[in-house]
Amino acid sequence: MEQAHEILIVDDDRAMREMLSSLFSARGFQVAEAASGDQALETIADSDVEVVLSDIRMPGRSGIDLVGELRRLRPQTPVVLMTAFGTIGSAVEAMRVGAFDYITKPFEPDAVALAVDRALEWRSLEEENRRLRKAVDRTGSLGDLIGESAAMREIFAVIKRVAQSKSSVLVSGESGTGKDLVARAIHYHGVRAAQPFVPINCTAIPEGLLESELFGHVRGAFTGAHASRQGLFEKADGGTLFLDEVGDMGMGLQSKLLRVLQDQEIRPVGGTKTTKVDVRIVAATNQDLEQAIADGRFREDLFYRLNVIPLRIPPLRERPDDIPPLVEAFLRKHATDGKRWFSKEALDRLSAYAWRGNARELENVVERALALTDSTCILPEELPLAAGEGEPEEVTSERYLRNAALRGVPLSEIEHRYVTEVLDVTGGNKVKAARILGIDRKTLYRRAERRAARQQSAS
Ligand SMILES: Nc1ncnc2c1ncn2[C@@H]1O[C@H](COP(=O)(O)OP(=O)(O)OP(=O)(O)O)[C@@H](O)[C@H]1O
Ligand SMILES: [Mg+2]
Repeated sequence: MEQAHEILIVDDDRAMREMLSSLFSARGFQVAEAASGDQALETIADSDVEVVLSDIRMPGRSGIDLVGELRRLRPQTPVVLMTAFGTIGSAVEAMRVGAFDYITKPFEPDAVALAVDRALEWRSLEEENRRLRKAVDRTGSLGDLIGESAAMREIFAVIKRVAQSKSSVLVSGESGTGKDLVARAIHYHGVRAAQPFVPINCTAIPEGLLESELFGHVRGAFTGAHASRQGLFEKADGGTLFLDEVGDMGMGLQSKLLRVLQDQEIRPVGGTKTTKVDVRIVAATNQDLEQAIADGRFREDLFYRLNVIPLRIPPLRERPDDIPPLVEAFLRKHATDGKRWFSKEALDRLSAYAWRGNARELENVVERALALTDSTCILPEELPLAAGEGEPEEVTSERYLRNAALRGVPLSEIEHRYVTEVLDVTGGNKVKAARILGIDRKTLYRRAERRAARQQSAS
């Protein structure tokens, strides 16, 4: 059995206290009482009170003061304040100091019970969030999702926030960026986790079948429909429907989906009756849906319905900080003995690679590297990377130049950096460097001198 929730009722008016006390006892709460703000603080100090229901105006420490103290001492304990009619000013003040909610006297028992229930719900969400935050901070992961980059941490935070709501989420990102995992994380970290998570790949199913797949059909709806069948929307009732590759859905079905999302009810193919459904939608796409809208392949109104919360996962090459932890996770997954790893150089090479197939490609490379060699410590030359495909130099310089252009870096600066690089790779050999640069040696000397002079005057 679930343990009884503990509530503390604070009011200097004894009749009020007793009324509330019996109200909450009847609802299965364990009730503590206090006649003043000071007494409330004492009671709370050594108790497991989860929620406080307090009057505002009391002799001594007021309800407002009590909220202030509790925010400081026990921020996880929500306070619902009761204010007499006509003192809205203090109610506003109560919210400002951090009360969870307030109700105005006189109130219906249901109203106060509802406010307390919501406070408890908030508290459990907060606890859950805190627990998840701790888990993330320690390991740089959320469920099966791994990531230590700022971008992924931000995504983890968004996932945890949106998991608690019912708003539609549109996850976008290149193939292999983990959209599937993100969709699952949203479901399994939310209030719907105990309900079904139902994925459907909109590409894999022919348009004609997709409709009955989603909404079900009645018996005799079409040839072969010998029995009526429940659609995925109904299967996902109370839970989450994951529309993968939503950009591949045909226009006809898009209109039908839009209607379902608007009305929250479905009508099976061939049926006349509609059924209410409570389904949270997470959609994913590796296409640019805005482009698809411009091309007339995707309905703009449906896009807005799906894109209530956009979650864009950047390509792996834009978050190289995630590569080492991902490599480690994939190593753990595929080298079960845990006695094999990558050399520092191999890891560097992996970190600089372009990963057009993102984490999926990285996982494949790790798995193949383990299969292809017996080395305990895998070296760069043992990495099965596609030659010429996204050479590291190319990527970094591309990005460097792009950033430079955005920042407005003058050509002399780029030139200077290139000359420095070339000198570096030639080990300072100016003859070789000049040959690579396609300038004569004297020019190179002059440049080097000018630079030295500039550096001197700068320091
Ligand atoms: N952040 C991550 N942490 C751990 N594994 C990841 C991560 N991102 C992706 N992967 C792994 O990479 C593979 C591809 O991920 P997933 O299927 O979620 O990608 P996707 O974005 O849905 O790709 P597609 O667009 O091709 O469907 C999976 O094996 C998944 O476990
Ligand atoms: Mg996918």
